[in-house]
Amino acid sequence: MAYTVTPWEVSGDIDYARLIKDFGTSPLSDVLLKRIEKLAGGLHHMLRRKIFFSHRDLDILLRKHEQGNTFALYTGRGPSGNTHIGHLVPWLFTKWLQDRFGAELYFQITNDEKFFIKDLSLEETTRLAYENALDVIALGFDPEKTHIFIDTEYAKTLYGIAAQVARRVTFSQAKAVFGFSNETNLGLAFWPAMQAAPCFLPSVLKKRKVPVLIPAAIDQDPYWRISRDVAPRLGYEKPAAIHCVFLPPLQGAGGKMSASEAESAVFTTDSAAEVKRKILKYAFSGGQATVEEHRKLGGNPDVDVAYQWLRFFEEDDSVLAQLYKDYRSGALLTGELKMLLIRKLTGFLEDHQRERERARKRLDEFLLRD
Ligand code: TYM
Repeated sequence: MAYTVTPWEVSGDIDYARLIKDFGTSPLSDVLLKRIEKLAGGLHHMLRRKIFFSHRDLDILLRKHEQGNTFALYTGRGPSGNTHIGHLVPWLFTKWLQDRFGAELYFQITNDEKFFIKDLSLEETTRLAYENALDVIALGFDPEKTHIFIDTEYAKTLYGIAAQVARRVTFSQAKAVFGFSNETNLGLAFWPAMQAAPCFLPSVLKKRKVPVLIPAAIDQDPYWRISRDVAPRLGYEKPAAIHCVFLPPLQGAGGKMSASEAESAVFTTDSAAEVKRKILKYAFSGGQATVEEHRKLGGNPDVDVAYQWLRFFEEDDSVLAQLYKDYRSGALLTGELKMLLIRKLTGFLEDHQRERERARKRLDEFLLRD
């Protein structure tokens, strides 16, 4: 079945094993997971469940770490709207990496990118950048080790690095990697250099070669291809990456949760009533048409969105395994499964929204400005 995965479009029934081949990344092997487990003193549930499923040079990065060369983390957000719970997937995992490896995090918020590509003013993407930053802070990152920057407000530092990258990438390379055409505006044509720049920012700031690991969904990988290509020519290490799959939209059936379709997503700012309404109304069910049939035949958790979301957000393996079994056997009904998800998410969002409001006063602890 056809699917598309680019930094700007994700649709269709994604074949992740195929993507590994097409993108030229490596599967996250059990051997590598064991190594992470040993170094981190455990495995995050998104690793145990292969929600993070692919990488570039993570083995090399871990070797450097073992030799005492601590790495930095780099990830980000394109502020085109409110944050949804799909965006939190790589960020929650990044927080775990920071906690376990003591790594500094560089977090880019790309108000310029979304201005180039969406029908939004620069004022609006900048406003959203600050709103999205609250969601990052609310997750509990260490202020001593976390540096958030909004592109236009950190341009003096970033531009110099981006210029070094841009000088070494031709337009025909950018066309091949990003599908640019003659109609692409100049801002966007230059843009990949801006997303590549933070791969080298820790080295520039620390004045030594700092290895970098980028946790993100697989849609961002094209940027790391060009970053890795130019790194040796700039005298830097190639950035390593670890890729996750997409949290599916409420309606299921492939693609990713998207902020532009409000009814496909749960946003971090949604009220408890809103979360309940969306899930009860839209979450695609793997259950049978009637309760009687469901009790007799059982449901299919592999396509059921409530179950799929719980794979991302229920940390306890034994709870999840029991839900799988009960849904399969028909002991657990779709409505009951949805209520469990609603309870899980509203509990999480209640804490998140409180921290998010507290974060308004804490922005200066985290923001890098020129
Ligand atoms: P953006 O804002 O589209 O997405 C932010 C992060 O969330 C991931 N993501 C998802 N992960 C799981 N399930 C989903 N449904 C889902 N939707 C989005 C994205 O992969 C991303 O990690 N250009 C970037 C901003 C950026 C960036 C970076 C991202 C700048 N530098 C470095 C990652 C790493 C963007 O528009 O992301």
